[in-house]
This record gives sequence, structure tokens and C-alpha cells, in this order.
Amino acid sequence: MDKIRIVGGNALHGTIPISGAKNAALPLMIASLLTEEKLVLENVPRLADVALLQRILGNHGVDITTNGKRTGDDPNAGQTLEIDARVIVDTTAPYDLVSRMRASFWVLGPLVARMGVARVSLPGGCAIGTRPVDFHLDALRALGADIDIDGGYVLAKAPKGLKGARIVFPKVSVGATHTALMAAALADGESVIENAAREPEVADLADCLVKMGARISGAGNATIHVQGVPHLRGARHSVLPDRIETGTYAMATAMAGGDVLLAGARPDLLESALDILRAAGVEVEATNEGIRVRRNGAGILPVEVSTAPYPGFPTDLQAQLMALMTKAKGRSRITETIFENRFMHVQELARLGAKIHLDGDTATIEGAERLTGAPVMATDLRASVSLVIAGLAAEGETLVQRVYHLDRGFERLEAKLSRCGAEIERISG
Ligand code: UD1
Repeated sequence: MDKIRIVGGNALHGTIPISGAKNAALPLMIASLLTEEKLVLENVPRLADVALLQRILGNHGVDITTNGKRTGDDPNAGQTLEIDARVIVDTTAPYDLVSRMRASFWVLGPLVARMGVARVSLPGGCAIGTRPVDFHLDALRALGADIDIDGGYVLAKAPKGLKGARIVFPKVSVGATHTALMAAALADGESVIENAAREPEVADLADCLVKMGARISGAGNATIHVQGVPHLRGARHSVLPDRIETGTYAMATAMAGGDVLLAGARPDLLESALDILRAAGVEVEATNEGIRVRRNGAGILPVEVSTAPYPGFPTDLQAQLMALMTKAKGRSRITETIFENRFMHVQELARLGAKIHLDGDTATIEGAERLTGAPVMATDLRASVSLVIAGLAAEGETLVQRVYHLDRGFERLEAKLSRCGAEIERISG
């Protein structure tokens, strides 16, 4: 298994290109199941999760071609996928695939909406806590689907098609909002989705669905109106930039010190995180090309943060912020309100010398003068990148193991950081 080796101490200087958002690319690829025509997605990041979803969609009969890189192409540009779901040969998504990536469960909504039937494995356990799918199932039930659970599979049936309905989520869920949006797009009549997730990736999915002929208004707000249509058509759509990757490299720059341009980043997608960085004493400036992050000499100030659904501080940046706060001058407090077990990185950060005390959903971090390199273990996607951030400021060598977690969500991480002066390399094996 590959490892990432980091020798801390170098400041970062240069430009980091921001890739297309993984969390938008996945639902956009799944939306291809809603139409017999071709969906062309641009700026798709080259990630293990994207490759796995290609396999999962392929299993349903979806044909996907990726345009090869031509001479002169920008090596940082994302890939273009041409996705053709004209023929669905199989409406089952099997356990061995769905268990490897939870988001693949989201094929359930579009499959039952278009085909009238879908059989999708329950995703199973997850390193960051129990992640049920009840909101997805309740939304589809509200739209008239019959739902049975048998042998670890969800069987959804709507032989006469789905019917528009009012869907009220008890708690904000990004995935369940995607499910409701895609299913309602092909339902008969009007749907109203209340307490919908306002994440930019939901709005990006809605934008693409509208290009495909869906009638949706209000995406990006808590109430979304969908007027169902009988068919959707092909479209071309470019995936929005990854706000979590942006925030991650902003925190890496804050941690290591230096001056980095996050090229192509959109500050409007992560205002809460940028505000926290400013409160921590980091210089953050929106420019025509993206976001410029600087920390030269000044220390890091402690902050108090709670994660929250968008536009709040994202849970997907919680581990990275915690890594940064291990070097703050004083005591920080981070409360995780979205996932109950998302503190797996705490014990690993402790191996580097971080002083973190956990009490229920709150972590108290006593900023330390020094972190020292050590072998550490990646446990999930965002936790693993927090160890890289800590390693950038630790004295000596940090060896991050199980980096396949990183490859799920960060495109060419070691190349992007080393081009800015970090001593970081991948050790294959
Ligand atoms: C998505 C993101 C993930 C991010 C999360 C929260 C993708 C591919 N993943 O995950 O990176 O951390 O949003 O911003 O976009 N819940 C239920 N029942 C359900 C569904 C969710 O109780 O049926 C709960 C979850 O356990 C969690 C909360 O709702 O406590 C939010 O989860 P949700 O927004 O659904 O996360 P995902 O869509 O899986």
C-alpha cells in the first residue's frame, strides 16, 4: 500500500490549481441515469471515487467515455466524461460496489424514477459514524414508491411512475436532497422539498438538471420547487470548483506559512471557512484568479467553531482546521454537529504531539509550540488530509499510511503541494 512521506518545515509559495468538486461530480454523474441522451460533464476531477462510480454506472449498462489528454492540454484541467445511459441493462446496484462508496446509493432515486424499479444495496458501515438512509427512503415513499428492505437490499418500485409530493426533511441531508431532486424531476406533478440542503453542490446538480429540461426553482435555498417532466434530455455541464479542496489547501498554507494562490477557487463557496481563517490571523484575499492565502511570520490565533450545514462551517473541513489549531497560540474549541464519530484523526494527531481533549461532540485543542513527525494512519478521507497538514509543520518525517483514503478525494495532492515547496512524496508499495 502506498504511503505519503512528508518532512515538515518548508513554507508554501506558488499556485495550487483547484479541481472540480468531488461532491458535485458524483451526483452529476448519477443524474445521467435520468435520460436516454448523452450527458457531457466537464472539469471532472481524476479521483478514485469518480473511477469507482464509473464502474458502478457501467454495471447498470451506462457507457462512459473519457476524453484523452491532447498535446498542449492544461495538465491541471479536469477530465470530460461523455455519459450515455440510453440502455439500462440492470437496475441492481450490488453490495460489493455500493459498500465501497456510500454516494453510489444515490442511484436509487433516478433508477426508480426512470425505470420504475431499482434494487440497491444498503451501504453498510462507515468510519465517521452511523450514516442511515432513512431520509432517502422516506422521500421516495412520499413520491409514491413502494419500498421494501430484504437481504440487505432496498427494493423500490413505482411501476406507474412517481407522483409529485411535499417532502419535508427532519434534518438537513445533502444526499437525501440529491435523491429527492433527481426523483422529483421525473415525477408526475409538482414537488416541494422543504428543509433541503443548501450546499453549492445541490445547486450545481439542479443547474445541470435544468439544462437537461427539468423545471426546478429555489435550489440553494431551504425550499425547492420541482415541476416534474416526462423526459429529460442530454446536456453539457461543467463541475463547480471543489470548496473542500480549496479550504484544505488554504489551511495547509496557513499551517506551513507562505503565500499561495488557489487558482480557480471561488470564495463565495466557502465564506464561513475563510472567515475562520481570517479570525485565526491568516490573510485571505479574493482575486480575479481565485483566492490568495498568506501567513508570513505571524502566529496562528485560536478559534471556536461548530460545524453546520451550508452556509455554516463544513464538517468536511473540521479535521483540517483541527490540525491547524494544534499550532495555535492558545486553546481552541471545535464542535462537530453533523457526524457523531468524526474524530478519528484526534488519536493520530496526538502521535505528532498535538494536545487534544475530547468531550462528547467537542474537541478542545491546546496549541503546541512543536509537532514532531511520526508514522500515522489515515482513517477516512478528510482525516487523512489533516495528517498531511500537520505533517507540513511537524519537525522531521511524518509517514501517512493507508493513503488510498486520500486518493478518493484529493487529486494529485503530493504534486500540488510539492510544486509549492513542500517536501512531500508518495512511496509506492
Ligand atoms: C455529504 C457529503 C459529505 C459531507 C456530508 C455533510 C457527498 C458525496 N458527501 O454526505 O462529504 O460530509 O454531505 O456535509 O456529497 N442522515 C440521516 N438519514 C439519512 C441521511 C442522512 O440521519 O437518510 C444524517 C447523517 O447521519 C448525518 C446528517 O444526516 O448526521 C447529514 O448527512 P448527509 O448530509 O446526508 O451526508 P451525505 O450526503 O452522506
